[in-house]
Amino acid sequence: MHLTKEEELIYLGEGGDTKRRSMEILVALGDIYGADRLIPVASTQIAGVSYKTLGEAGLEWISDLRGKVVVPSILNPAGMDLCRWQEMKIEEEFARHQLEIIEAYRRLGISPDCTCTPYNLRPDAARPGENLAWSESSAVSFANSVIGARTNREGGPSALAAALVGKTPRYGYHLDEKRVPTHRIKVEAHLEGSDYGALGYLVGKIVRGGVPRFVFRLRPTRDELKSLGAAMAASGSVALYYFDEKVPPAQDEIEDITVSPADVREVYEKNFADEDVDIVAIGCPHCSQKELERLADLLAGKKVHREFWICTARGIAERCPRLVEKIEQSGARIFCDTCMVVSPASELHRKMMVNSGKALAYIPGMCKIEAAFGTLEDCVRVAAKRV
Ligand code: F3S
Repeated sequence: MHLTKEEELIYLGEGGDTKRRSMEILVALGDIYGADRLIPVASTQIAGVSYKTLGEAGLEWISDLRGKVVVPSILNPAGMDLCRWQEMKIEEEFARHQLEIIEAYRRLGISPDCTCTPYNLRPDAARPGENLAWSESSAVSFANSVIGARTNREGGPSALAAALVGKTPRYGYHLDEKRVPTHRIKVEAHLEGSDYGALGYLVGKIVRGGVPRFVFRLRPTRDELKSLGAAMAASGSVALYYFDEKVPPAQDEIEDITVSPADVREVYEKNFADEDVDIVAIGCPHCSQKELERLADLLAGKKVHREFWICTARGIAERCPRLVEKIEQSGARIFCDTCMVVSPASELHRKMMVNSGKALAYIPGMCKIEAAFGTLEDCVRVAAKRV
């Protein structure tokens, strides 16, 4: 990979040890994937925040770094609500390590808003055509497909390296030729809400790492696109999809797939459960303000009889304190900075009901508990059912 004079000097250590180590990561990645050069990034989103996945070695590595990031950078969810972790039944030792991780990132100039939906928190986090280095798979999918920015699915270390250097190797989804559709998905079902999570769960398994182009009857909302992309990234490894007329010409051998109403129904039928569910969790990806409004309406006048977590970004919850209060009157809890997949608190349960195709795909493997799937209305109904 070609380096400019200035990049070469960083590689040789002129910008200090942290920048040298970061440049080594970027160069190694560029060489592996055949990048021709480095390109500037407008922002980074950095995974590897939960102590559950980062561990002691990761904490040491981050604590060793010096200096400041050179582009706006935000963190992925941590392993706990940074303020209400006791309510999640997080152990003190875990909490101490988790707070040390956040502090180490903060020293590097990274915003401790821990969220997988930075685009909801900061509308200018990504703009069409910008190159980014984002890590979390649903955020990557949203940035590429809905915003029209360009990012690979970075690992935590490579996103952090990009944040410290301000650049990323030019390969993969930064290139036009990697952004052409590989499958056309004709959706015959009329979908709403969590149906998009069910659709993504199905399509991700079929297209794996492909680039699907959807033909919908009605244009999905922003939150529905968020759920669709998140599920496809989890059940497959889709990082880019198309859903409107702005589509580059397809390859000749594009594969056609039709999704019927029965296909979508089957995801619910195979995964629905209201027995044995001891926790319901919403907010994968993190809830938008609109989703919180819908939850407040559904929970009005009800009491929940199971643990009911609603995960969102702290900045979103802080924008609408009355909504938070309304929701929590039901006994549900709004947890910020974290989620049901990356928090060890999920492991204290037996079966978790979700309305997210991504959480359905990840909960059994990441949390070692059973997962059940239903609509948002199903989730509220099960939570409010007497045990
Ligand atoms: Fe976000 Fe956690 Fe789901 S990071 S996409 S809420 S698994």
